Amino acid sequence: MNNFEFKNPTKIIFGKDSIKKLENEIPKDAKVLLLYGGGSIKKNGIYDQVKKALAKVDIVEFGGIPANPEYAVLMDALKVIKDEKITYLLAVGGGSVIDGTKFLSSAALFEGDTPWDILSKNIRTEKGMPFGTVLTLPATGSEMNSGAVITRKETKEKLAMGGPGLFPVFSILDPQVIASIPQRQLANGLMDAFTHVLEQYMTYPTEALLQDRFAESILQTIIEVAPKVLKDPTDYKAASNFMWSCTMALNGLIQKGVPTDWAVHAMGHELTALFGIDHARTLAVIAPSHYKFNFEAKKEKLAQYAERVWNSTDGNTDDKAYAAIEKTVAFFHELGIDTKLSDYTKDYEGTAEKIAQRFTDRGWLGLGEHQSLSPDKVEKIVKMAY
Ligand code: NZQ
Ligand code: ZN
Repeated sequence: MNNFEFKNPTKIIFGKDSIKKLENEIPKDAKVLLLYGGGSIKKNGIYDQVKKALAKVDIVEFGGIPANPEYAVLMDALKVIKDEKITYLLAVGGGSVIDGTKFLSSAALFEGDTPWDILSKNIRTEKGMPFGTVLTLPATGSEMNSGAVITRKETKEKLAMGGPGLFPVFSILDPQVIASIPQRQLANGLMDAFTHVLEQYMTYPTEALLQDRFAESILQTIIEVAPKVLKDPTDYKAASNFMWSCTMALNGLIQKGVPTDWAVHAMGHELTALFGIDHARTLAVIAPSHYKFNFEAKKEKLAQYAERVWNSTDGNTDDKAYAAIEKTVAFFHELGIDTKLSDYTKDYEGTAEKIAQRFTDRGWLGLGEHQSLSPDKVEKIVKMAY
């Protein structure tokens, strides 16, 4: 096992009717900016629950953060933070609203030229404006981690940021919120969390027995609850297991002491930036080709995953590893998610070259657990995904 340090300061408040506990979490003297997305919270009652819990708090509101949080919109919110002398942020939404709030937490205290530098120059956030979240969509794990991904339409870019200053102070997770989530977004959530685990697991064996079993148990839980969540999002038992699995998939725990990959996400983000494809769906497009292309380097773990997660025990290591990829693709299809780029756009010619060029320009010359996935390999993987 590799050496590691682990600190996750986010307080999780989980369970039925937990939104009312907001009242106890926001400092009494805070001036709060309540941030939300396209308005789903106004239709499903979450907004009313939040407002009721915060009846005694000084609040300003900012709605309209789009899926794949847009830099230009966030810059409008930053102006509100400065003009209104906001001291505390509250995100009510999915990964996009939470990530947008993380950007604002950082930008509000940023002293450089332009907040875009935080993303383009990869500046870590050591201290941000404090913020809490009310999660409305289980998927990203953003409610309990310190990362964010921001999109800029103007330049068709989607870049990541992070740092120890960007953990939410608290996150409220009421699984009942999933009742109003459309099927497409439920499937996206299951897909995203599943791939988060794969990115931290599908590398090479390191005798990290506990981390492997944490990862496998999250994968198994997602596979078990997926059909139930999709069939009936008011099934509380399934909803609560789904929600907690998504959080645990990316709160830092399972990646400690083990190598991680994250190349699927790196390539996937480009597909969102170029074509606007939902984040989770870009992962379904890239992951199968990525595992096929890196078969030799990953086959030990693929075979272990086949045995322990899919109960595929026939044949040798290669047979099991192949079966693992097939089972994974079949699972994505069962979620109703297409796995080829051509399923999403007719304009895919030249995409692989474009992404490889972008990675070269950014100096991303060796991704993955061996830092050996060079832009020419990225190009081949993306082409395999057409
Ligand atoms: O905007 P509203 O009206 O709220 O509607 C949203 C949005 O249209 C809707 N929704 C959310 N909760 C709902 C609901 N509709 C009905 N009922 C509810 N309870 O769902 C749509 C998608 O929301 P979004 O927040 O965009 O989805 P998600 O949570 O999948 O977040 C995706 C973003 O997170 C980033 C992605 O790249 C993408 O930008 N990620 C963030 C990560 C992190 N911070 O750790 C890791 C991930 O890998 C990912 O990159
Ligand atoms: Zn993801």
